[in-house]
Amino acid sequence: MAQIKARIIGTGSYLPERILTNFDLEKMVDTSHDWISARTGIDERRIAADHEQTSDLAAAASRRAMEMAGVAPDQIDMVILATVTGDFPWPSTACLVQDKIGASNASAWDVSAACSGFVYAMASASKFIETGSCKRVLVIGAEIFSRIVDWEDRNTCILFGDGAGAVVLEGQEGEHGILSTHLHSDGSQWELLYQPGFGSRYPASVAGIEARLPFLKMAGNEVFKMAVRSMYDVAVEALQANNIQASEIAMLFPHQANKRILDAVSKRLKLEDGQMYVNVDKCGNTSGASIPLALDEANRKGLLNRGDLVLLDAFGGGFTWGSCLLRW
Ligand code: ACO
Repeated sequence: MAQIKARIIGTGSYLPERILTNFDLEKMVDTSHDWISARTGIDERRIAADHEQTSDLAAAASRRAMEMAGVAPDQIDMVILATVTGDFPWPSTACLVQDKIGASNASAWDVSAACSGFVYAMASASKFIETGSCKRVLVIGAEIFSRIVDWEDRNTCILFGDGAGAVVLEGQEGEHGILSTHLHSDGSQWELLYQPGFGSRYPASVAGIEARLPFLKMAGNEVFKMAVRSMYDVAVEALQANNIQASEIAMLFPHQANKRILDAVSKRLKLEDGQMYVNVDKCGNTSGASIPLALDEANRKGLLNRGDLVLLDAFGGGFTWGSCLLRW
């Protein structure tokens, strides 16, 4: 029997309307546009409106991906949503999206792997498709980090933004689709990047709110070093597993954490100018949404051609990291 691959047949994304610039941030915390731009490469980010939930962003991106794919909601067999900023701790936000888009025949579940979530979700989806369990899977990354960042902490609040991206994967015979996925974790490093409250370790309490537990905590320097090393290592792992050189990659889509992290990975991989897609300047770090957002942006600009080798490369809280190599 011919081998089935999970192929992207549609991409979509959604960015909230409101733009928060570095100049706006200057009025909120002790920072400057020049500092943020030089240290992170971020100039602006989007912030969800008060009435918008993560499931709204995810549903908007999904509708655009399904429209491009020419697939009706009831033709989707599974919805996998990468997020760590869901509407509720539970039920899963994927279930809420399933309802909003009318994917009545789909199972739905969330993946929690922070900024690596979309790559984890793609790896999971590809296995369901390759084994014949699903024909079409909607894979989404959606986040509203603006609701969990501490707007009094200049070390972190400048980095993040809101948004969503989605792809429709379909099982097809032939050479196009996901060629490999590689996933890794190091749970011993969880404390370097996490959201303390509120879960079973720190249940909801007034004291917890006063201690600012609901907000993201990050050890920026350690995260920076691990992100560079891990994103490089897992990219090399993907290249070696497929017996290809970095020069053969048409476009690498890294998790858009920080321009300096991306430059360091690009330099170590010896990529040419234009081989790595970067939009962190306009979107900031949108965690699990960053890769599908960038992928849709590039796709709609016509930057991806049939047969291109495309590499997705992510690192995030957990720690987690992973790659997904596709033939477009
Ligand atoms: N504005 C002005 N000054 C600032 C700001 C700010 N917004 N934030 C920190 N500073 C100050 C610090 O207080 C420090 O001052 P000091 O020397 O008087 O103590 C100085 O700037 C240097 O601070 P560093 O932390 O050493 O600055 P660094 O160059 O490392 O940049 C940054 C900090 C941008 C957070 C960097 O460490 C980084 O990008 N880390 C990775 C962050 C990231 O991408 N996280 C997410 C990745 S994984 C995921 O997405 C889940």
